Amino acid sequence: MKTIIEPFRIKTVEPIRLTTREERLAHLRDAGFNVFLLRADDVLIDLLTDSGTSAMSAEQWAAVMRGDESYAGSRSFYRFQDAVRGIFGFEQVIPTHQGRAAERILFSTVCRPGHVVPNNTHFDTTRANIAATGARAVDLPSAEGRVPAEPHPFKGNMDVAALERLIDEVGAAAIPLCMITITNNTGGGQPVSMGNIRAVSRVCRAHGIPLYIDACRFAENAYFIKLREPGYADWPVREIAREMFRHADGCTMSAKKDGLANIGGFLATNDARLAQQERDLLILTEGFPTYGGLAGRDLEAIAVGLEEVLHEDYLQYRLASVRYLGEHIADAGVPIVQPPGGHAVYIDAAALLPHVPPGQLPGQAVVAELYIEGGIRAVEVGTVMFGRPDSRGGLDTPAAMELVRLALPRRVYTQSHVDYMIEVVDAVRARRASIGGFRFVYQAPVLRHFTARFEPLYPVGGAGSPNSAATTPAST
Ligand SMILES: Cc1ncc(COP(=O)(O)O)c(C=O)c1O
Repeated sequence: MKTIIEPFRIKTVEPIRLTTREERLAHLRDAGFNVFLLRADDVLIDLLTDSGTSAMSAEQWAAVMRGDESYAGSRSFYRFQDAVRGIFGFEQVIPTHQGRAAERILFSTVCRPGHVVPNNTHFDTTRANIAATGARAVDLPSAEGRVPAEPHPFKGNMDVAALERLIDEVGAAAIPLCMITITNNTGGGQPVSMGNIRAVSRVCRAHGIPLYIDACRFAENAYFIKLREPGYADWPVREIAREMFRHADGCTMSAKKDGLANIGGFLATNDARLAQQERDLLILTEGFPTYGGLAGRDLEAIAVGLEEVLHEDYLQYRLASVRYLGEHIADAGVPIVQPPGGHAVYIDAAALLPHVPPGQLPGQAVVAELYIEGGIRAVEVGTVMFGRPDSRGGLDTPAAMELVRLALPRRVYTQSHVDYMIEVVDAVRARRASIGGFRFVYQAPVLRHFTARFEPLYPVGGAGSPNSAATTPAST
């Protein structure tokens, strides 16, 4: 059969609410044009993130009922630990309430001011947690990863020569660990090849630098390796995953992605001495080492999710739905990061709106217009998220790319929802000439995209076009 169907049937439904264009304009204005500040009930299709938004399976809900809420030594912890050890191969398993807690514990244990931590591309929480220790986060994406329109099977790869140059420049002693993020979320949800993981690991081991994998989307990455990397077509995805982690010394994980859970994460390593220090910190901020900020039922849901995410019919459907969305909007003439990634399609807002300079936040404009047009909530991954204001809070240093991410929650939306998304994106594309820029009216000093407020520099929502609710630039 040509049609790849959702490999599940639906048992529980959650209504979503249609709103009018006028209502959406009012909601967005009230939210300071920041979609993070909208009420979720006012969003029709929520593509803000694939994090913690998965639908759980019947088996996961059954496991929730088996949750053992004992403070110490809960059997749910042992089930969770067995699942993590079995897939990732690390002996020391430290549960945390989500990925950034694992990052904070890891980095505050090993990083000091003056240290440097390379990654293919740091995710925003990784970068911020490294910076909080006084260390510096350095991105070393491959050359292909920097060109949105250029297709390549493994655009998430790290630039191994650049890693070697960095080690020569700062010295291995200044690098307490190297990270590699699979898939490379910030770099477009693009996979990293086994060959690249192996090469990075070889360089790190030669210099005595521990390699950690940011494993959030490990199953999607493993399936890309199966599909695209010669030699792996006949390997079970579980074995590919195991092989990826064999090259690493530890990992951080947000179980809110490929754990198919709504909350949770962990830190894992084979270094027992380091794990002891990390557990001491865990007790201070997350909780006892056998629950680490999670309820027993959460540990159960993750243990089941980590197994289910490796089912190949699920992964085939998962990657097919993202590819379907990407290919259809690209065919309609919307520039996207090619090829589509594992969990999201990234619109190249700089190419879609070439008349809007990076300083006027073209990605933010696309995000606003997608919401106004069809109630779709996307997220800007560009200058709003990664630009740097100058020392007087003035003009930004723009980000390397101006992207808008459409992240697909796992097992949540159906084919007809995806067809609707395509229609909405195309409608925004059709009136792109009328779309202008935005400026900040408030920004926090770190992770500003979550709470920033904006002002449009043009009449948002397609003023002047038929059926539009025209509005003028906000003056307040
Ligand atoms: C690559 C990557 N690393 C780390 C994190 C942080 O995980 P969490 O949101 O669970 O703290 C995320 C979350 O989106 C991510 O995509």
